[in-house]
Amino acid sequence: MPLASLAAALPYYPVNDYGPAMKGMVIGGLGIVHVFLAQFAIGGGMLLCYFQWLAQTGREPHARRFLDGYFKILVLVSFVTGALTGVAMWFTTIQISARTIGLMVDEFHWIWAIEWCFFSLEIAAGYTFLKWGDRLPDTWRLRLLAAYALASWMSLFWINGILSWQLTPGAWADGAGVWAGLFNPSFWPSLVFRTTVAMALAALAAAVVINTMDVDREARRRLILRAAHLLAPMALMPPLGLWYLAVIPDDSRSWLLGGSIAMTMFVGIAAGASVLVGAYAAIGLLLRRLYINGATATLLLALAFGATAAGEFVREGARKPYTVRDVLYSNSITPDELAGLRARGSVVDDPYPLRDAARYPTAQLQTGAKVFRLQCAVCHTMRGANALVHLAGTWTPEQLRMNIAKLQHTKPFMPPFAGPASEVEAIAQLIQWEVAGAPRAWPDTTGDAAALARIAGWLDEATPAGRPGAGASDHRAGGRP
Ligand code: HEC
Repeated sequence: MPLASLAAALPYYPVNDYGPAMKGMVIGGLGIVHVFLAQFAIGGGMLLCYFQWLAQTGREPHARRFLDGYFKILVLVSFVTGALTGVAMWFTTIQISARTIGLMVDEFHWIWAIEWCFFSLEIAAGYTFLKWGDRLPDTWRLRLLAAYALASWMSLFWINGILSWQLTPGAWADGAGVWAGLFNPSFWPSLVFRTTVAMALAALAAAVVINTMDVDREARRRLILRAAHLLAPMALMPPLGLWYLAVIPDDSRSWLLGGSIAMTMFVGIAAGASVLVGAYAAIGLLLRRLYINGATATLLLALAFGATAAGEFVREGARKPYTVRDVLYSNSITPDELAGLRARGSVVDDPYPLRDAARYPTAQLQTGAKVFRLQCAVCHTMRGANALVHLAGTWTPEQLRMNIAKLQHTKPFMPPFAGPASEVEAIAQLIQWEVAGAPRAWPDTTGDAAALARIAGWLDEATPAGRPGAGASDHRAGGRP
């Protein structure tokens, strides 16, 4: 098994609390900015190459001015901020999902080393062009830009493999090894899709920049039409989207296509915004050769940002309840650990104290708070985003017990509850206590044997012994082993 590193006892990592923002949202928000900047830098490299070629072959008299103007600075700035937000991604993900990152490091250590080599080449080529570009002969300028563009695309190539592996680990999960993991079922559709997005972002940003250039309107129009050539691959987006949908797991697809209304709406926003940008590009620019002014170009770029954001939200959401499909749940517990945690308890070995332990009037509520922190906090807060107080505030005590015990059936994008009946009861009490306004006194139900027995029955029903991972997502995945 490739998962030897996960076989040890459940590891506990230091925990952080982001207040009203749930943890998943923190990663998601940062990820969206990072992806946008990084993809723009990649497309920007390609566009710079194209314009260098136009300039040196005499096809476009003003291309050189565009090249040496501030577009190249924009590309470099986005590549620097892309790198900064990239490091920030590491920092937040190791705090929020250390185990996922650990698994990635175990599996893809050398892949990251390869990516790092391309990244170094990207930096060297980019800065050399920035510093000496205007003094170099054309052939060298083109070589440098080609090296920059290729290297930045290659870093997308490798990292895309790791990200797509999280959703569709494919044959890797059956022990087929690191290359099977990298070239997993969604590797190619997602790589080609991201490449078309990168090119489109660069073309739209170029249209904004060209509008600020001090050349006559006809020259600007010609430059914009040249940049718009990088929008042409957007025509591939609909078939690429369908290809992607075809290779992702059945249950993820069903959420995108109506099963989860939030996700379906985001798919709609991503697709709708892309169609608008694409239609404008096809009809306005490529067919009717219209001039697009700065305001329109900025609006189109903003639409593209919206589409990117919605698309990344969908990709992250489609993975639930896993961070690595079938291998690691979003709360960093593995399906194989369920049985052990059910018997022993999920927080008895948790060495990290509660920051606000004195707030809770009973030991049972403290246990509930630890269970919440370990098993739920990656997707929920108590009172902020996706708040349990709002979601379950009107439920009766018995309803809370049952729905938490059968968590994966309550909503298929939640992992199974990974603890004994006493921990279900502890978090059910915690939610009621929070709903009641966190009063100073609260009954302790630890000794309510009848309630615990009912909960134990529901837990057994939801997660039968011997099939630890069995749950709603398994039978909805129809046909997957
Ligand atoms: C992988 C992310 C994830 C984890 C982990 C998770 N949940 Fe959820 N949960 C969700 C999502 C998403 C919803 C749907 C919210 C909505 O409908 O607006 C939800 C809904 C709920 C609801 C309302 C269900 C309904 O039918 O309206 C409750 C109660 C709940 N979760 C409790 C918990 C508890 C308790 C835990 C920890 C033991 C937990 N969840 C862990 C993602 C998660």
